[in-house]
Amino acid sequence: MNEVKDKLESFPTKEFQHDLLSWYKHEKRDLPWRKDQDPYKIWVSEIMLQQTRVDTVIPYFNAFIGKFPTIEALANANEEEVLKAWEGLGYYSRVRNLHSAVKEVEESYGGIVPNTPEEISKLKGVGPYTKGAILSIAYNIPEPAVDGNVMRVFSRILSIWEDIAKPKTRKTFEDATYQLISKEDPSSFNQAVMELGALICTPTSPSCLLCPVREYCSAFAEGVQAELPVKSKKKKPRPLQMAAVVLYDDQGQLYIHKRPSTGLLANLWEFPNMEIKADTKESYREQVKLFMKEEYQVEAEISELMGTVEHVFSHLIWNISVFLGKVTKNSTKDLLPVTEEEMKKYAFPVSHQKIYKMFQGCES
Ligand code: ADE
Repeated sequence: MNEVKDKLESFPTKEFQHDLLSWYKHEKRDLPWRKDQDPYKIWVSEIMLQQTRVDTVIPYFNAFIGKFPTIEALANANEEEVLKAWEGLGYYSRVRNLHSAVKEVEESYGGIVPNTPEEISKLKGVGPYTKGAILSIAYNIPEPAVDGNVMRVFSRILSIWEDIAKPKTRKTFEDATYQLISKEDPSSFNQAVMELGALICTPTSPSCLLCPVREYCSAFAEGVQAELPVKSKKKKPRPLQMAAVVLYDDQGQLYIHKRPSTGLLANLWEFPNMEIKADTKESYREQVKLFMKEEYQVEAEISELMGTVEHVFSHLIWNISVFLGKVTKNSTKDLLPVTEEEMKKYAFPVSHQKIYKMFQGCES
């Protein structure tokens, strides 16, 4: 860390800011959340942009803001609608936290997103990155907003060899950003670093020859840009064999299940499903039949295997074998019967959207 301090002492900060900011002014992408500095819109965009690419976020952002254009509109929406607007983006706890935080802003701050680090950090789901992004981008306050992209850029510029997968490393980069950030235009500065990370200083094969701040870059001078940032490998996700059943009856209804209100994919809807046991001679199909009866008191004719769906989470891989189940006797305990029209109201994880598509393919 002291090494970084030493580097910053002799770093030509003003010239660096100038070159970075004039590049940003000319080259910045025309993104929907850059049309104004509305803190609510910045907040929504930053939550969406965590772990999701800009191209994917744009249509979701436009639709979300179309539906919930203000803090008040989102605060007054019901959770089902909000989850539906997030369907497919993943990391659903982010939107549940956003929804509760927005309610808090509506109730405790008169609908105005607070502009102090202390107040904004108290809001649910607002960690150091989101705090810095909102304060700097929307309110022009010189606070760092350090995510993986920003760490990549500054690890190269300043030749920082700390492991960016370690939580404590963020502090090194926040300290560096406090020194480097433009006090005149912190909003553009932080966005310019993000933009540089997205367009030029990319994870693999960075376009150093096009880089507006190449002359300040230690990694380029040393020819080590491909070796930075240092990022230790995460554990591999654990595979889990599952089975899911598209249960239907002769009135054209499907039976869906709401996930628990905590944990993975909380409160989303799904087709009834189970973890497959490996230590048994029973076939998947037999296990499914038994599970439907024991868990839901549903008797159903279970089809042959219809197909498989894989979904990779950061810590887990679901390998789902999909079956059809024609209900013969049913108490509908814990399952909601819905028509295909009603299906559209409910938010499903991507894996279960794929299962539904598979079912629709079989129907036609
Ligand atoms: N990634 C994270 N925040 C961003 C922003 N405001 N603009 C572009 N990319 C981003």
